[in-house]
Amino acid sequence: MSINTNQIKDLLGKISPKTAVVLGSGLGEVADIAEEKVVINYADIEGFPHTSVAGHSGQMVAGKIKNRDVLFLKGRFHLYEGHTPQTIAEVVRSLKRIGIEKLILTNAAGSLNRDFAPGEIMMIKDHINFSAQNPLIGANDENIGPRFPDMSNAYDYDLRQSFKRIAESLNIRLGEGVYLMVTGPNFETPAEIRMFQKWGADAVGMSTVLETISAVHCGIKTAAFSVITNFGAGMQDFKLTHSETLNLAKKASQTLSCLLKVYLEDENA
Ligand code: HPA
Repeated sequence: MSINTNQIKDLLGKISPKTAVVLGSGLGEVADIAEEKVVINYADIEGFPHTSVAGHSGQMVAGKIKNRDVLFLKGRFHLYEGHTPQTIAEVVRSLKRIGIEKLILTNAAGSLNRDFAPGEIMMIKDHINFSAQNPLIGANDENIGPRFPDMSNAYDYDLRQSFKRIAESLNIRLGEGVYLMVTGPNFETPAEIRMFQKWGADAVGMSTVLETISAVHCGIKTAAFSVITNFGAGMQDFKLTHSETLNLAKKASQTLSCLLKVYLEDENA
């Protein structure tokens, strides 16, 4: 399957974004900050996969923020929906083909580290791919990227410094940590959480890692953020109510929206 990128370019018209932002669940409204918006439904793009997760709307929103053209993806593709790692790679590569140079990924995650409480944001500095899948398996096209890509700076150091600087100026506590990907869809068992902690993971979630691997492979600089919605299974004796969890997720989403907005408005970031 390949995505018709000429069609995306035609639909974008004069907008030629170099930065794309993938908005995880509950973060869709960040796209509202763009002006002169062009909205493209995934369903209208030939070859583009369909999302099935509630709260993921399945749209690209392109527009201007100050003088910068930005593309938002509202809705992403998870293994637990039945999407293949190759589909996830093709979505990232389609972004590369339309000219994207920087990719900012966002997700919701469970915390494994008591320093990252529900309601806070963790900037991902590294990952553990525990999905047992890889989007780069199969014949390698050297025109896209190398057979054995280096992952030692997967979450781009310079981008992370920019975000740290902006977070500091906004008084946002922005810790950095290691994100571990599981396929889901079930949440982890307490024993799994204890094992992931021993491995040095700080947060666990069901996305992002395969997108990062695909992006690094094709030469897109990547940054990623986790909205911490809960502690991992077994880490606290009491259970938060659903509405408490939603409120914390909302708080963290607002903080992340603010950080992204200032970053996107900053010409030099
Ligand atoms: N585990 C996996 N994915 C998640 C979690 C979790 O605890 N919270 C939000 N996404």
